[in-house]
Amino acid sequence: MAQRFPAGKAGDIPPGEGREFMCGKEHVAVFNADGQFLACNNMCPHAGGPLHDGFLSGATITCPWHGWSFDLDKFEEARRDGLDRYRVIQEGDDLYVELPD
Ligand code: FES
Repeated sequence: MAQRFPAGKAGDIPPGEGREFMCGKEHVAVFNADGQFLACNNMCPHAGGPLHDGFLSGATITCPWHGWSFDLDKFEEARRDGLDRYRVIQEGDDLYVELPD
């Protein structure tokens, strides 16, 4: 069963940018990929870089520290690259992130 956490307002995240939210004990990054909201754990699996400060191109985030990149819309890649992606639900201007229990 997944848990849902509030993650700000859609209008507060401009296209091409990300923001960090605390969802329970998890640091979560939420991105606006040209109107599609995507989320992942905010700690880069390489060395913990803050992904919300990275460079977003389409659905691909590049870590600001050493340049690893991750396709945020490919949930199945988490097994390979170690980055958990999360589902984002938008209800009006409100964003929610679903984290697994
Ligand atoms: S910490 Fe992200 S690439 Fe090194």
